[in-house]
Amino acid sequence: MIELNKYALEFWENHLQENNQDSKAAREYLEKREISVETQKAFHIGFAPDSWDAVMSLLKKQGADEKLIETSGLVSINEEKKRVYDRFRGRIMFPVLDIKGNPIAFGARILATGEPKYLNSPETPAYIKGEHLYGLFQSKEEIRLKKFAILVEGYLDLIALYQYGIKNVAASLGTAFTPEQSKLLGRFTKKIVINYDGDNAGIKAARRAIETLVVEDFEVKVLLLPDGQDPDDFLKANGAESYNHLRGRAYPFLQFVLENLSRERTVNSPKAKAEAIQEVLPVLSSIRNLVERRETLKQTLKFFQIEDKVTENYLWKEIQKREKNFGKDGETALEVKNFVIKRNATKITVAEQHLLELLIYDKDLREIILPALEETDYEQLATSEIFRALLALKEIGSDVTSENLLKLVEDDAAASDFVSVLLMSEPARDLDEAIDEVLTEAENCVATLRSMALASRILDISQELVFAEQTGDFELRDALVNEQISLARMKRDFEKRIVEK
Ligand code: UTP
Ligand code: MN
Repeated sequence: MIELNKYALEFWENHLQENNQDSKAAREYLEKREISVETQKAFHIGFAPDSWDAVMSLLKKQGADEKLIETSGLVSINEEKKRVYDRFRGRIMFPVLDIKGNPIAFGARILATGEPKYLNSPETPAYIKGEHLYGLFQSKEEIRLKKFAILVEGYLDLIALYQYGIKNVAASLGTAFTPEQSKLLGRFTKKIVINYDGDNAGIKAARRAIETLVVEDFEVKVLLLPDGQDPDDFLKANGAESYNHLRGRAYPFLQFVLENLSRERTVNSPKAKAEAIQEVLPVLSSIRNLVERRETLKQTLKFFQIEDKVTENYLWKEIQKREKNFGKDGETALEVKNFVIKRNATKITVAEQHLLELLIYDKDLREIILPALEETDYEQLATSEIFRALLALKEIGSDVTSENLLKLVEDDAAASDFVSVLLMSEPARDLDEAIDEVLTEAENCVATLRSMALASRILDISQELVFAEQTGDFELRDALVNEQISLARMKRDFEKRIVEK
């Protein structure tokens, strides 16, 4: 099979240099993509003529057995008409070499636009998908020398990096990274920077590759290029120096996973945190070294601002129990989630409790305070439903009675319980007393809540900032920094008001 592939490879390589219209167009295409003749040689890039039988007759002429040709993947077979014809026609040929340099398969790119963009060899006796890495034959020495490898998705990403002098690269070729591939790569290095496309598919593929590599004890980082560019696009626009600079600041894999989760959705409610943590657990359980695993769990909880030791110990036990099978058992996954939610339900703060105690008995105070509240003041609080209920009752002109309140918060068990607690407190003033004193108290509470909400927003932005820095999105970074500064200023103003009173 390898021998047949060698004949085909040589034929296509030679055909690229021939003096005809098609070959010329192919050379022009490669030139347009800035692939030098030297690089073409290093990767044995070729061109398959637009012919139904060029390779077929070449192999026959070499005396190859017909059955053998049919299993080589170099030809396609039309079962109905029993016709056998060249699989690759009018395409740029990228041979896939095994670690010894034998051609075992081919990728073939269409010159113009069209489908499929790449046509690949099927599996053959010489080629099992997911057991090889494109470019590793050419890059393995450099990977040993540099002591790390860059993993990319595409043929042309690898070739572009090589062309720009970054030669410690391997390509997984658009399929899920397999354990076999990580074992193969592991013969040359245990450090890897994943540099897949920045689009959603690429990010998902990176997530899966992380798990596969971490199990094999790799030190994994992830590089995301700005604007969803692939390495090829990025290098052409910015050059090797910029690339190496960003590569040096690639995310450790945990950070990549966490930032990505918190970018997909806001993770400030206990429920959202629990769900996000659940998604990280398979990654955590794939870490082999127990010290590192525990440390990574700690960092994860810190990221979500969970300081609860009981949660940490509980999750640790769950991870140990199920190791690699995490997330596959729906029932226990739900148990884990509910545990985390319960343990980390938002605590009721002094300020919100006091404010609610004041409001609940005092219609005059409600008339002043409620219209001044903004949703951001209370939306993150454990008692947010009670604030909503008070606003709703004011809206429809109903009295604040325990019955009315309870009806409105009945879906929220914690809020219902807390309404009963509130109703056990004493009114702060008789209704014929002046309102000034309680009004000041209430305003102080509102200012405190507002400053808490601002603090939490400032913290959220810090997380977004790391991401903007990382991806080199400087416009976003500057906007975030400005937002943080103005939020911090507002926060100081509110705090000053509290002190002055
Ligand atoms: P991309 O679509 O990102 O291609 O697919 P690319 O490498 O950037 O190619 P250019 O720059 O458009 O020429 C990434 C990899 O996925 C596989 C190939 O291995 C490709 O290199 N792929 C993609 C296929 O096998 N078939 C396809 O039709 C498309
Ligand atoms: Mn590309």
